[in-house]
Amino acid sequence: MFKKLDIVDEKNPVLRKTSEEATFPLSNDEKKLIQQMIDHLTYSQIEEYEKKYDLRPGMGLAFPQLGINKRIIVIVHEIAENTFDNYVVINPTIVSHSEEIIAAEAGEGCLSVNRDVDGHVPRFARVTIEGYDEDGNKIRIRAREELSIAFQHEIDHLNGILFFDHINKNKPFYGEDEIRLI
Ligand code: NI
Repeated sequence: MFKKLDIVDEKNPVLRKTSEEATFPLSNDEKKLIQQMIDHLTYSQIEEYEKKYDLRPGMGLAFPQLGINKRIIVIVHEIAENTFDNYVVINPTIVSHSEEIIAAEAGEGCLSVNRDVDGHVPRFARVTIEGYDEDGNKIRIRAREELSIAFQHEIDHLNGILFFDHINKNKPFYGEDEIRLI
């Protein structure tokens, strides 16, 4: 049975705190919430369910967005029409990154930010993430392009950072000669 998640708004101070590391084994409540996050993000990217449940499309969520300051992120990445790769990373860290900087040309969005925010968010083009899966096994993920942006966006949530914090207020847009826009 699908349950639409209650996602906290940007004004909630929980989004500005540094989250604590999660400990293993994860509780049943934590595991259940992770599954609900996967379901919510998946449904939000399938037009039929997006309409039926009035969801905003999104590819990532972090625990603080559910009001819990724990270092857990979920990304549901559409790799082909209605085909998704799911990533659940507990205590994720960026262990290396490219020098190249990119930005989403259309800007970024966030399920906790219920307004349009214009501007380019500079991100590493490629990142390597280390962390743990739900069972506590160490994992390493290499991400590039859109997926790299998603990981950086979600890990920021664990450190109390929102995407628009990275937008240069004096010069919110970059040219193609400055950073690569995707
Ligand atoms: Ni977000």
